Amino acid sequence: MNMKTLIINYKAYEEAFTKGIEIAKYSGELSKSSGVSIVVSPPFTILKETVKFAKTIAQGVNDVDPGAHTGHVTSFELKQAAVAGALLNHSENRYPNTKDGKLDYAAIKVAVDKCMNLGLETYVCVQNLDEAREVLKMKPTGIAYEPPELIGGNISVSNSKPEIVKEFCSIIKNNSNSLALIGAGIKGKEDAEKSVELGSDGLLVASGIMKSDDYKSIIEELVKGLNK
Ligand code: G3P
Repeated sequence: MNMKTLIINYKAYEEAFTKGIEIAKYSGELSKSSGVSIVVSPPFTILKETVKFAKTIAQGVNDVDPGAHTGHVTSFELKQAAVAGALLNHSENRYPNTKDGKLDYAAIKVAVDKCMNLGLETYVCVQNLDEAREVLKMKPTGIAYEPPELIGGNISVSNSKPEIVKEFCSIIKNNSNSLALIGAGIKGKEDAEKSVELGSDGLLVASGIMKSDDYKSIIEELVKGLNK
């Protein structure tokens, strides 16, 4: 059984700042003992704190080198901050949308390559199978299927779209070495178990953990589900 991955996306929730470090500490500890790779993805301003306690990836990275790029985030600075990699193209921060509304795959590839050249991991989000087929050609560390309409809700992607999840996982596994991850609406053990049954290598979870009064129990339950 390959080791499963749980990425905790802190987004820009207030809780990222009030309990983000605690969550990183807990995740780092549990990761050592649980057999699940727990990765935190906090806001940029606390990356250098969470790296002390847990495997950490940034919530985004731009396709530029160090230079005159105000407001951009470079793979170089992520490397300097000792983070493990980056999440790219999340639905809430799609990789530069071109004028026709389509994704700028070329720009995503440049960013993925720049990260890879520095030994950084890349987790690229996609909204559908067509995007997954394009992104897998870039050989990122992981590809995360997240249907935008389910993000932040209480209906999980594994329950709501089992057929698509299954197909997504099989497309990724049969055509690449990337991890097949899924996210959106994941709240507990059953969602995690179901995702594994459908072929996934792990999960991306945000509100289920960040908005919970008992994040430890939720993380533990998700880990149990992933280990089933
Ligand atoms: O990146 C994970 C995220 O978009 C899923 O959000 O709140 O549905 O777990 P949530």
